[in-house]
Amino acid sequence: MSPLFFDFPRPSALGESLRGLLGAEQGKFILKTFPDGETYLRIENPVEGCHVIVNACLVPPNEVTLSLCFLSDALRAQGAKSVGLFAPYLPYMRQDKVFHPGEALTSRTFAQLISTYFHYLVTVDPHLHRYHSLDEIYSIPTSVVQAAPLLQEWIHATLPSPFLIGPDAESVQWVKEIAGASPFIVLQKERYADGHVKINWPETLSFEGKTPVLIDDIISSGGTMVQAVEHLKTLTPTPPVCLVIHPIFAEHSYQDLLKSGVECIVSCNSLPHPSNQLDLAPLVLPALTYFLEKFS
Ligand code: R5P
Repeated sequence: MSPLFFDFPRPSALGESLRGLLGAEQGKFILKTFPDGETYLRIENPVEGCHVIVNACLVPPNEVTLSLCFLSDALRAQGAKSVGLFAPYLPYMRQDKVFHPGEALTSRTFAQLISTYFHYLVTVDPHLHRYHSLDEIYSIPTSVVQAAPLLQEWIHATLPSPFLIGPDAESVQWVKEIAGASPFIVLQKERYADGHVKINWPETLSFEGKTPVLIDDIISSGGTMVQAVEHLKTLTPTPPVCLVIHPIFAEHSYQDLLKSGVECIVSCNSLPHPSNQLDLAPLVLPALTYFLEKFS
């Protein structure tokens, strides 16, 4: 029996691509909101005895997560043998510490919720900073797919002489691997508020003959990237390329970054966005196939 693949809460290019590679049947459902704001969900396929994968776009996270739990609970109640979550972008990972007394450790609560409703989790480059592994907070089996080979392939096919820049200490895990033999630098960043950061640059840095390539896992408010682009203008006349794995681009941040003077913005299709150029599906396929076999 082929697996059943739900693209949730709406169809996406990544979902289509993955469903084709998996040879999975399309999961069909009705999702609507009652006038009082509550959710109505109805699964339209028979799911008894099926292995199900839910590809969930978890932005905005709060809105989608509750419906996602309704979906998984309904699938299990209707007899699905396994229900796995593929969350290309895993939210709440940046709230990995109680920074100020009294704060909720939302990364942990979110992980507990997902672990309750799903048999396994596959994700792409979660923001592992203070946690070293998802196992520290998720109690279900997890698999982390790395987008680095995709970014590396694009850079090598497009830019003859790149100079990679990671805007903060966390980015070392991506930048170092993607750079290979190309030069790279990882900067230090201080965050004062949402969208307000200060990046510390070394006093001397030469980009002669090179194209600056800014790489980050997430662009949210765009504050980090815009500030990096502004500083780069004082160092080199060559406009930078911006590469990002998870293009959240809250509010007007995409327009702000385009206007800041970048050569181009390229993202993976972990979240549907006009900057998507890199299809994660072939990289994700082995992890999903592994879990389908493990739970069969
Ligand atoms: C956090 O440190 C991440 O790696 C990103 O640098 C951060 O999420 C980017 O956020 P923003 O676009 O709001 O500056």
